[in-house]
Amino acid sequence: MTSALTITRLEVAFNSFRALKRVSLEVQPGESFGLVGESGSGKSTLLRAIVGLAPIASGRIALNGRWLGRRDRHFHRRVQMVFQDPYGSLHPRQTVDRLLREPLLIHGLTDREARIRRALDEVGLGSGFRFRYSHQLSGGQRQRVAIARALILEPSILLLDEPTSALDASVQAEVLNLLEQVRLDRGLTFLMVSHDLAVIAHMCGRLMVMQNGEAVEQLTAQDLVSGRVTQDYTRRLLAASGGFVRIRNPEHSRDQAEPIVKPRGENDETRFGRGGLERSPV
Ligand SMILES: Nc1ncnc2c1ncn2[C@@H]1O[C@H](COP(=O)(O)OP(=O)(O)OP(=O)(O)O)[C@@H](O)[C@H]1O
Ligand SMILES: [Mg+2]
Repeated sequence: MTSALTITRLEVAFNSFRALKRVSLEVQPGESFGLVGESGSGKSTLLRAIVGLAPIASGRIALNGRWLGRRDRHFHRRVQMVFQDPYGSLHPRQTVDRLLREPLLIHGLTDREARIRRALDEVGLGSGFRFRYSHQLSGGQRQRVAIARALILEPSILLLDEPTSALDASVQAEVLNLLEQVRLDRGLTFLMVSHDLAVIAHMCGRLMVMQNGEAVEQLTAQDLVSGRVTQDYTRRLLAASGGFVRIRNPEHSRDQAEPIVKPRGENDETRFGRGGLERSPV
């Protein structure tokens, strides 16, 4: 099978500082792949390099087996990004309608009415939200609009940079459920960054651990949950996330927002990292 995304020995340099050092990665079509690592380890830089927003010094990136050149319109129809902060990523003085219409205009798509309605329905907002300004929305509703805006061009890959870490726990669970639902409905491929190992373990089949711009190791979510890791750094990450709660009920629907990530300390089924190792930033 041709990989959805292939990254080969990627280096990103900001002047003399190497933010990514020979990072390689393959993500299969329909897979949800996680990136974890402490702050500054290069997770966002990797996503930004894929969309052409970070200076690539060497290495290559391919989409569906084709090496990328300039990130043109065709690329942006296939790859969309959702950022952590829905307050920063949506213009506060634009209506939801305008926010959703803009990418359709840029890409010259004609069936705009139908696409806007479908996108709002898909993210559980409905047409009642269509003419609200984004400053009139809650954080969770804003993030739903950001997801709708990313989906409206029908991409095949979503790059998700901490998509729920600005939200409180119950809203976080709703938005994660929504993302999982659209991934399954549309057969999307996800590359997802999160500080929260429980979120990554639930949302992703595999993941890569990063430190100082380097790939430390790749694991399956099951390896992570079972503590089958080979590198000390990953053990420290697990230790630092003491209270990592494995999600119990993966069955959910959009209407029924079953929390998938329990607040730490409640109804824990599996916990990690209570061995008293030094706490390092996750
Ligand atoms: N535009 C830039 N110019 C200079 N250095 C940068 C730039 N963007 C990122 N960096 C540096 O690259 C390194 C990796 O940053 P990056 O944002 O990728 O980290 P991260 O893993 O996403 O961290 P966090 O979890 O805090 O979001 C950091 O040391 C950061 O300071
Ligand atoms: Mg980041």
